[in-house]
Amino acid sequence: MSFIQLNNIVKTFNDSQRQTETLAIDDISLSLEKKEFACLLGPSGCGKSTLLNMVAGFEYPTLGSVKIENKVITGPGADRGMVFQQPNLMPWLPVWDNVAFSLKLQGVGRKQRQDAAQQYIDAVNLTGFEQHFPGALSGGMAQRVGIARALLQNPAVILMDEPFAALDAQTKLEMQEELVTIWQKYNSTILFVTHSVDEALILGSRVVIMTHRPGKIRDDIKIDLERPRDVTSNQFNELKRYVLDVIREEAKLAHEAQQTPTISH
Ligand SMILES: Nc1ncnc2c1ncn2[C@@H]1O[C@H](COP(=O)(O)OP(=O)(O)O)[C@@H](O)[C@H]1O
Ligand SMILES: [Mg+2]
Repeated sequence: MSFIQLNNIVKTFNDSQRQTETLAIDDISLSLEKKEFACLLGPSGCGKSTLLNMVAGFEYPTLGSVKIENKVITGPGADRGMVFQQPNLMPWLPVWDNVAFSLKLQGVGRKQRQDAAQQYIDAVNLTGFEQHFPGALSGGMAQRVGIARALLQNPAVILMDEPFAALDAQTKLEMQEELVTIWQKYNSTILFVTHSVDEALILGSRVVIMTHRPGKIRDDIKIDLERPRDVTSNQFNELKRYVLDVIREEAKLAHEAQQTPTISH
């Protein structure tokens, strides 16, 4: 039995105004083992966020089931921390209070919240910024707070939806390195959504490639490259070429499908 299991997931969205149905995901099955760092790679609109949101418990499959430790996911839970593209911090709360926000909701006292937050603030290299307010942080620092907040929820399972997409190239590289360190330190299981081939190959122990909408699994590759990943190495570039070829072929198929004339009788 795998740690996280997605079984034959189909997801449709209804547009009540236009009276149409969008098939977003078409029969996806995927199993994640503990300590895997799985990157979900695919073009915009292929259903990556929808799939991740189902593991987070924000969305439900139309057909199929999502399970963690063999239990069906029925909503968001304290066993899964989520990191979004935008950290969505509370601007009126200092860093430490943002990190421990879930404990505040549970009514945990100030001293205990501060203590619980500190190790994760240290883990994301924000030591010394505990009392800063979000308005005084750079984009990268704000996202570090978002990661620390997810770690405090539960460092064992981290779900991330293009968390570095809005950051500048240099900050992105630093954060990718730090995330790998965090993953190793906490033995986390990470499901990380990205549309960047480089990012998927820098981070993942596994890269799952999705098709264009409706999303299916196109390919699933184990990445055995040593860490830290050397983006200039032959092995890295061979893999990159392979993944790019798969994605180009997929784009071509999607384009052809759009061009195929529909026959009316
Ligand atoms: N709440 C929703 N209502 C209607 N359609 C949606 C909703 N969420 C996503 N979709 C549609 O489902 C498809 C997949 O979306 P999404 O999972 O956000 O893709 P990705 O994250 O890969 O860019 C898209 O066509 C999108 O428009
Ligand atoms: Mg998305």
